[in-house]
Amino acid sequence: MPARPKAFEFPFSGVAMGCDYNPEQWDPDVWREDVALMREARVGFVTLGVFSWALLEPTEDEYDFAWFDEVLGLLHEGGIAVDLATATASPPPWLTKAHPEILPVDAEGRTLWPGSRQSWCPSSPVFREHALQLVGEMARRYGSHPAVRMWHVSNELGCHIVRCYCDESAAAFRRWLTGRYGAIANLNEAWGTAFWSQRYSSFDEVLPPRLTPSFSNPTHELDFSRFSSEALLDYYRAERTVLRTLTPDLPVTTNLMVNPRQSGQDYFRWAPELDLVAQDHYLDARLPRPRAEQAFSDDLTRGVAGGKPWMLMESATSAVNWQPVNPAKKPGELLLDSLRHVARGADTVGFFQWRASKAGAEKYHSALVPHAGPDSARFREVAALGDALLKIGEVAGSPVEADVALLVDWESWWACDLGSHPSCQVRAMDAALRWHRAVTELGATADVVHPSADLSGYRLVVVPTLYLCTDAAAEALEAYVRGGGHVLVTYFSGIVDERDHVRLGGYPGAFRELLGVRTEEFAPLRAGETVTLDDGSTADVWTEVLEARDAEVIARYTDGPLPGTPALTRRAVGDGVAWYLATWLDDDATAALAERLTREAGVSRLDAPQPGLEVVRRGRYLFVLNRGDQAATVPARGTDLLSGDVLDGEVEVAAGTAAVVRTED
Ligand code: GLA
Repeated sequence: MPARPKAFEFPFSGVAMGCDYNPEQWDPDVWREDVALMREARVGFVTLGVFSWALLEPTEDEYDFAWFDEVLGLLHEGGIAVDLATATASPPPWLTKAHPEILPVDAEGRTLWPGSRQSWCPSSPVFREHALQLVGEMARRYGSHPAVRMWHVSNELGCHIVRCYCDESAAAFRRWLTGRYGAIANLNEAWGTAFWSQRYSSFDEVLPPRLTPSFSNPTHELDFSRFSSEALLDYYRAERTVLRTLTPDLPVTTNLMVNPRQSGQDYFRWAPELDLVAQDHYLDARLPRPRAEQAFSDDLTRGVAGGKPWMLMESATSAVNWQPVNPAKKPGELLLDSLRHVARGADTVGFFQWRASKAGAEKYHSALVPHAGPDSARFREVAALGDALLKIGEVAGSPVEADVALLVDWESWWACDLGSHPSCQVRAMDAALRWHRAVTELGATADVVHPSADLSGYRLVVVPTLYLCTDAAAEALEAYVRGGGHVLVTYFSGIVDERDHVRLGGYPGAFRELLGVRTEEFAPLRAGETVTLDDGSTADVWTEVLEARDAEVIARYTDGPLPGTPALTRRAVGDGVAWYLATWLDDDATAALAERLTREAGVSRLDAPQPGLEVVRRGRYLFVLNRGDQAATVPARGTDLLSGDVLDGEVEVAAGTAAVVRTED
């Protein structure tokens, strides 16, 4: 189905604070207190009904909307706008009992039973029929309710079940493959089935890549990733069709999980199907630098949204409950973390959930109202955030300005992270994260975009481990460089085409000519093994037998498996420059190279970056976020919307605080 022609206004004004509201857990007298407290905290919208199916349709075809009517009425009276869920995220027990065939199955053939949530197969026609019936009921009953501003399809599609391997999914996969390849001979060619006796004589013989004795066919895996993303998107479209038919004036979206930790869905394909992009982001305390990952995810969300403002639908006011240890946010972190999202393009700040549950699987997840109640530091901090977001409301709609682009692609990610590769230490998103952080720490801003994006407005493009790459993307990159652009390609890029076939003649196939290099063999390093370069930097993970055929050698290895071999090259091409980095530089060396590249390319950045300081410009608004332990001073003329201070040339931002400056220049 073509993307919706209609362009929707952003459904909330200013930078609205919001949250998931699950009132079915509480007595009706709590609902009244909730609305009063929401007003106190300046909550602008709530997402209602995400997990309400079992209470809205307690038995098949019998609905109980009375309680939901009351909640919507209370919210409306309180002036709280509603992002209305279609309530289909989790099937009720009567449905899974009557139709166990809707339950998902994993690669090992195990059924994922009911008892938690979201146990359904995206390709199940039975699930779809029941869900769409509920969507229709919801749309007819609430589509013109004055509190309702938008639709929220299901919830985090693919959060728990990205890939289903059941027989229904197998049949859907075969239909999808038939559509993609037309003839089985084309599939055999694309999958390279001449190897390992895998030749198929008909589509009927193809299965999902279930548990196998050894590596399964990588293109089979890649296509199953494509199919699985598409199966969920197709489900989204089915709900959307019902909603568009019945309520054509309400925007429709679903909350995505755009981050480098979950590769499930190709969100570049999803975004055109959403009336606005909505994103959930939770800090992951298991990572060495959770906030660098947040900044990357925000910038990727903006890339997915095509540069337009997006909704932060969910985040956490403090701890989550799904990591092994769940640290609480320190005082001040809630404001800074929320402003980081806004700085990077969010026009709402949403949370899961309004009131901390007293029972159930998420009772230790933070909320706006904690177990201690509203007389708590957390609730006061939430209310202060609500005030701060009101103060910066005029920022909404302003575009983020970025001089740097990082190219990422879900297809490349899927292909790169498969097994049977030269090194399991090479992971698609690692280099993207590292280079994003290096650029961000210099006070520059990067858009994280698809390789087919228009690159002409960027001063520097980083191609971090873009393992799979189309001819068109390689040609566009070359044209960008010839036209004066600066590009850095890092190792294990341009190796295969979209069928995951190696580009022959020497690595990195797609970029060999542009970079003026040729590699005959990879020489990955064992875990813990390091190499030294002749500029004094150290590196690990990767080296390769690189020949600089038509490029200047900037650094060579002095030890390791390939002493004397080039590690970093630079080639002037047309009016631009193409760099190749053939190893995994340590943090300091990455920072030094980022410093040189951004200077040479003329990237807008801080002259004096300092640890923990983030600076992002959205139109005429300058966000200065200082999570370091020293005060920071940044050039700025205008008014700090948070403090009201008028700034005559610079803004000083104390450690752990922020400024949002409406600039005059
Ligand atoms: C996801 C879900 C929510 C909740 C949070 C907890 O974002 O959408 O329902 O489970 O995770 O972090």
